[in-house]
Amino acid sequence: MAETNQNLYSGTFNIEGGNFNSAGIVSTGIKSTLKKLGIPSDLVRKAAIVSYEAEINVVSYAKKGVMTLTVHPGVVCIEVTDEGPGIPNIDLAMQEGYSTADQRIREMGFGAGMGLCNIRNYSDAFQIESEVGKGTRLKMTITTP
Ligand SMILES: Nc1ncnc2c1ncn2[C@@H]1O[C@H](COP(=O)(O)OP(=O)(O)O)[C@@H](O)[C@H]1O
Ligand SMILES: [Mg+2]
Repeated sequence: MAETNQNLYSGTFNIEGGNFNSAGIVSTGIKSTLKKLGIPSDLVRKAAIVSYEAEINVVSYAKKGVMTLTVHPGVVCIEVTDEGPGIPNIDLAMQEGYSTADQRIREMGFGAGMGLCNIRNYSDAFQIESEVGKGTRLKMTITTP
């Protein structure tokens, strides 16, 4: 009982909107932190995918954001809150291939419209809420089977 409540790690990281030079740094750091903690590799892989996609979305669409990583034995939780335009139609944004990415983003190899659906598919629990003109919050939980 005590062991399952044990907090192995928590950390908070800032993401700068529009800065593609540092895009991916936060999710790379999360991946290496999880590896160092000895988290099973399938969890690390899923956490790396969802954190990367969420980070790229903040860089692509928002002004700034914060990613929080919390690790308990067998449970990895990643939350991303941004200040940005928000998402007017979440159901549409969740669809495979849907993207509003502009030319500049596409030229950098992003904007395939797979980010949010991959985040949902690789998370064991996924929540998204968004307010137009304010921002977006994602919460992803990945657990050992
Ligand atoms: N943090 C965000 N803030 C505002 N809009 C977002 C955010 N994340 C995603 N979106 C919107 O949802 C769409 C789909 O996102 P995603 O599935 O990651 O595909 P892509 O980023 O390749 O367009 C984006 O094109 C954008 O319109
Ligand atoms: Mg994306």
